[in-house]
Amino acid sequence: MSELFSLDGRVALVTGASRGLGFAMAKALAENGATVIVNARDPAALSAAAERIGAEALPFDVTDAAISRASLEGIVERHGRLDILVNNAGIQHRSPLVKWQDEDFNHVIAVNLSACFRMIRDAVRLMLPNKFGRIINTGSVAAILGRPTIHAYVAAKAGLHGLTRSTAAELGRHGITVNAIAPGYFATELNTALMSDETFTKWVEARTPAGRWAQPEELGGAVVFLASDAADYVNGHVLAVDGGLSVSL
Ligand SMILES: NC(=O)c1ccc[n+]([C@@H]2O[C@H](COP(=O)([O-])OP(=O)(O)OC[C@H]3O[C@@H](n4cnc5c(N)ncnc54)[C@H](OP(=O)(O)O)[C@@H]3O)[C@@H](O)[C@H]2O)c1
Repeated sequence: MSELFSLDGRVALVTGASRGLGFAMAKALAENGATVIVNARDPAALSAAAERIGAEALPFDVTDAAISRASLEGIVERHGRLDILVNNAGIQHRSPLVKWQDEDFNHVIAVNLSACFRMIRDAVRLMLPNKFGRIINTGSVAAILGRPTIHAYVAAKAGLHGLTRSTAAELGRHGITVNAIAPGYFATELNTALMSDETFTKWVEARTPAGRWAQPEELGGAVVFLASDAADYVNGHVLAVDGGLSVSL
């Protein structure tokens, strides 16, 4: 059975992997045998993270189209292939609707959605000759449930769930699957403002059937499953890892 989940010989890129969920997913992929390349913007933090899990550090900004494409091509030049792309880099911006600036909205969409589209397209160009690929997008429970103040984030994540389905529909015949993971509330830097708010934390504990915030390592099983042969026939799926939040009132 463990063979089914082995990632031996696979080459994986995880974006936004210097900390938080991306780091935890990169660690899980590495522990299951994959050669892992981690990405983020800050080179020093990324190198330190890469060293902890025996990964290669590949710093770039996913909103830079030309550098993103060249970085993907460089992976194939160095490692001979790219099998797994985890589109995880993401940002948040919170503001009452009437105070939102166009540039803030556009920036969140650029990182959380447009960059994912380009990364999928450019990675797929490299995966097609091998007739094999696993693309995993980090969606969100916020793609299916709205929340005040995070308008661009909700729009981008809903778009990413849609992009997961459209690309899955097109790529399945080519041996490439595209799935998403929709995390609930995880204790990461992205949520620092929320975690330090006692009222909000109490709300998360009451609202989530699991009764607590999740820890980043709790995404490991989901990403390994979707990247592995165990998920060969799983395509276009959004896997909620949210302690039951999205199915309860
Ligand atoms: N935490 C949660 O509860 C939760 C729930 C649902 C979904 N998510 C999603 O999960 C993903 C990771 O979230 P997180 O909580 O782990 O966030 P985080 O702790 O803030 O980490 C974000 C990572 O993305 C990198 N990053 C940000 N902008 C980037 C860019 N333009 N290019 C390349 N890398 C970039 C950051 O490094 P640099 O700043 O050095 O670039 C960092 O490594 C996001 O897509 C988020 O929307 C999180």
